[in-house]
Amino acid sequence: MPLSPSVSCRVMRHLAVTGSTNADLAKLALSESETPEGFVLLADRQTAGKGRQGRSWTAPPDSGLTFSVLFRPAIPPLQAATFPLVVGFAVAEAVQPLVPEAKVALKWPNDLQINGKKLCGILCEMRADGDKVRHLIAGIGLNVNLDPETLPPETASIATSLRAATGRSFDRMEVLTCILSSLAAAYTRWLSNGFADLLPDLLKRDALLGKRITVDRGTGPVSGTATGIAPDGALLLARDDGTVESVYSGDAHIRRDAI
Ligand code: BTN
Repeated sequence: MPLSPSVSCRVMRHLAVTGSTNADLAKLALSESETPEGFVLLADRQTAGKGRQGRSWTAPPDSGLTFSVLFRPAIPPLQAATFPLVVGFAVAEAVQPLVPEAKVALKWPNDLQINGKKLCGILCEMRADGDKVRHLIAGIGLNVNLDPETLPPETASIATSLRAATGRSFDRMEVLTCILSSLAAAYTRWLSNGFADLLPDLLKRDALLGKRITVDRGTGPVSGTATGIAPDGALLLARDDGTVESVYSGDAHIRRDAI
């Protein structure tokens, strides 16, 4: 019987300040011998944090966790399409026991929310050569002790943190340890058993299920009712004409007019 792949994720570099941990790790990853799988780059502050869809990620220093984790799976690029969901699932599972009074939900593809407010953003980036993945980088920004009131008005009302949701403060390094061990476990499960094995557990955290939503895709918006996530990672959207559309990328918004 083949051995299950196993990985352990460890902080190998901890910077007080940098531009973007994802950008730094992408450069470091070019040297395979110096950056093994599971290499974690942590920064207390980023000056050019990157978000999804070309957005930026800003967080007051020391209010949360900003870090990137390197993986080197021997898989074709297509198979990596579900990786961002696996990362979101792993972080949600790690954080949930710390906030038992709240539900940590996963908004496709991989925002984490509590009570509809953003707790964590995840940016996954891949480098591939032909049909081979060279590396995957999971960049994670988690609001730990952030006071949302300290954010600019446009984001203050849509953000939350572990502390805002519970009234308790958290040791950031303890939270990081929980996340890294959950990430290693979910990654190993994904590689060994495939995404379909994680999907039933992930769907229990689906923030969009049954909601009327609009998804901004590169090719234009599409609206309907979210009916789940497919085994290939696509968001399933039931259109009003009865057809079901698989959406592979974009940003989903719950329609306020439909709540
Ligand atoms: C998003 O919600 O749009 C994704 C935000 C991802 C932010 C994290 S912080 C650590 C890592 N480094 C970056 O530059 N971005 C990710």
